[in-house]
Amino acid sequence: MQNGYKISDLPFETKKFMPTLLSIDDISRETGLEESLLRFYESEYPDDLPEKILRGDTLVFDSSAVEAFKHIHDGHGGGHSGDERISKGLRFARVIAVTSGKGGVGKTNISLNLAIELQRLGRMCVVLDADMGLANVHLLAGINPRLDIMNVISENRNISEIITAGPEGIGIIPGGAGMLALADSSSRDRKKIVKSLKRVEEAADIIIVDTGAGMGPSVRDFLSCADELLFVLTSDITSLADAYALLKVIPRNGDLGVRPVYSVVNMVGTLKQASDVSVRFSSCARQFLGREIQHLGYILRDSTVGAATAQRTPYTVFNPQAKVSINTRNIAAALLKKEMPEIRLSSSFNRYMNMIQEGEG
Ligand SMILES: Nc1ncnc2c1ncn2[C@@H]1O[C@H](COP(=O)(O)OP(=O)(O)OP(=O)(O)O)[C@@H](O)[C@H]1O
Ligand SMILES: [Mg+2]
Repeated sequence: MQNGYKISDLPFETKKFMPTLLSIDDISRETGLEESLLRFYESEYPDDLPEKILRGDTLVFDSSAVEAFKHIHDGHGGGHSGDERISKGLRFARVIAVTSGKGGVGKTNISLNLAIELQRLGRMCVVLDADMGLANVHLLAGINPRLDIMNVISENRNISEIITAGPEGIGIIPGGAGMLALADSSSRDRKKIVKSLKRVEEAADIIIVDTGAGMGPSVRDFLSCADELLFVLTSDITSLADAYALLKVIPRNGDLGVRPVYSVVNMVGTLKQASDVSVRFSSCARQFLGREIQHLGYILRDSTVGAATAQRTPYTVFNPQAKVSINTRNIAAALLKKEMPEIRLSSSFNRYMNMIQEGEG
């Protein structure tokens, strides 16, 4: 990847007249590119641009950004522009964050088993274990990864070495401490992680992100950038209240419009119980937050889940014909019906990167 365009690379005339610190307006004038296009490049190719500098209360670029933007525009900056990606049939994966207000509702089980069912339906699926507390996707999947995403920073490992093959050929990325580092580490290290994750976004169809429960800032930031959100609810009243409180603090819009929010009700005894919970959640969201929740389905409480866990096998592999497995398959099918091609034109991890960068400024 080319980086670090120097002022000395610029033609003499430009060098002479260009102010050293440039707003996006200035860059638009210098490059002749529209501001919206520059913003798009900014979110898609942060690695190819110089770091922004805080001046007063605005973020500005140094003058090397002019050449860098031109370079991206000319298509030599590595990667493809949005339009090019579409014409080549290239898209980013759907990034679906699985979350809940309350812990212990079944997020990890659902993330893993949903990925397996999506893979069985022909989609290339990767699970990113982004639970910053207790990362345990690999435990449920029965794999022992040697590396996690932290090694991208600490040992310069390639992301392909970090992804471990899981059941049915899904990919599993142990995030763990690395995800926490993403929020805290230096911007150089962060870029490395984000760049790696973006590579996965370019290769996979769907990335399921198992997030931690609750409202920590890292979880919230990440949820704000994912393409789609899947809330796991249970019939427990606090699960509903906590999910509602979490939804309330997540911005409604992604950069491509309204972000789809789904619900799945887990560990229910009856269908009636499931529909009561989903209806209550969606009517609260509609009435008080003006947000539409799309209900994807339910999963029964079933001892198969515990039995499968004891064998360190996902329940959809342990017993594909168990009710919980069939329930999960139905949710996977419902999710595929919700496919929105425009979601796949931009990178969730780039959005995340930009967000934490702005938070710093
Ligand atoms: N449908 C189900 N039927 C029976 N038990 C279930 C079901 N779903 C999950 N469980 C059990 O509930 C517990 C919590 O599940 P899981 O670890 O997937 O939840 P989680 O939301 O990821 O928890 P955490 O917030 O701690 O990350 C586990 O013991 C799991 O076996
Ligand atoms: Mg979990």
